Amino acid sequence: MQVFDTVTGLQTYLALHRASQTIGLVPTMGALHAGHLALVAQARTECSLVVASIFVNPTQFNNPDDLKHYPRTLEADLALLEAAGCHVVFAPTEAEMYACPPVLRLSFGELEQRLEGAHRPGHFNGVGLVVSKLFHQVQPQVAYFGQKDLQQCLVVQQLVQDLAFPLQLRRCPTVREADGLAMSSRNRRLGEAERQVAPRLHQSLQRVVQSAQQGAPVAQALAQARAWLEQSGAFSVEYLEVADTEQLRPVTQLTAGQTYAVLVAAQLGPVRLIDNLLFQAGA
Ligand code: PAF
Repeated sequence: MQVFDTVTGLQTYLALHRASQTIGLVPTMGALHAGHLALVAQARTECSLVVASIFVNPTQFNNPDDLKHYPRTLEADLALLEAAGCHVVFAPTEAEMYACPPVLRLSFGELEQRLEGAHRPGHFNGVGLVVSKLFHQVQPQVAYFGQKDLQQCLVVQQLVQDLAFPLQLRRCPTVREADGLAMSSRNRRLGEAERQVAPRLHQSLQRVVQSAQQGAPVAQALAQARAWLEQSGAFSVEYLEVADTEQLRPVTQLTAGQTYAVLVAAQLGPVRLIDNLLFQAGA
């Protein structure tokens, strides 16, 4: 496995291989878990050269404390990527990625006004900037993102469409712990008691899906699941919503046979967690 911390080093290496290889990019912020490794595994089935990037991107953090405490585990990450059969790792410094503070601002329209966009002002601008840089630097044919960050997947889809990046996007399923908790780098900051209660987040989504599929009005399904989640006394819920799957517009009435997303964000101890499920409305 080749590891580069400069764009020049990365691009010199890729230039030698580009003509004969299909390049797949797995962008990450490190602190890797099985969810990231599933992206690498998926990339390996479709691409002959898999590049993973590891960069804790400061421009997408609206909360300085979250940035400060974001886990950084480069040595362990490299070992995991090597074992997963990743071919190239790009792990730049902040100075390498942002030689000058970026002036460009990206706006994703109404998609950005909701959910993560509303609760984390500037977050998707930062994601858009860094993902655009990575797409230019690596020039992958395929790029892999996890469905756990559903809104991010939609934002990146918009980015690819509007800026005509010549690549395919793959959205890969959320990988969960045995008790249902969606894997996240932030989970390692949960205390023991918080970790015990954390699967409630996923269960609250399941409750919404179940009630809605049994015909309960969406507002009632959401209110009951939210109350159940808050009953534990551990979660402070930021949002719990049912939305369409394209622009994540909130939905109050379901049409049979259509697919919807139910999305949640909540603070649990020192950690802000998000999760979502896709489901089909019943008849
Ligand atoms: O999902 C993430 O880990 C980050 O948002 C990404 C896509 C690597 C950009 O920094």
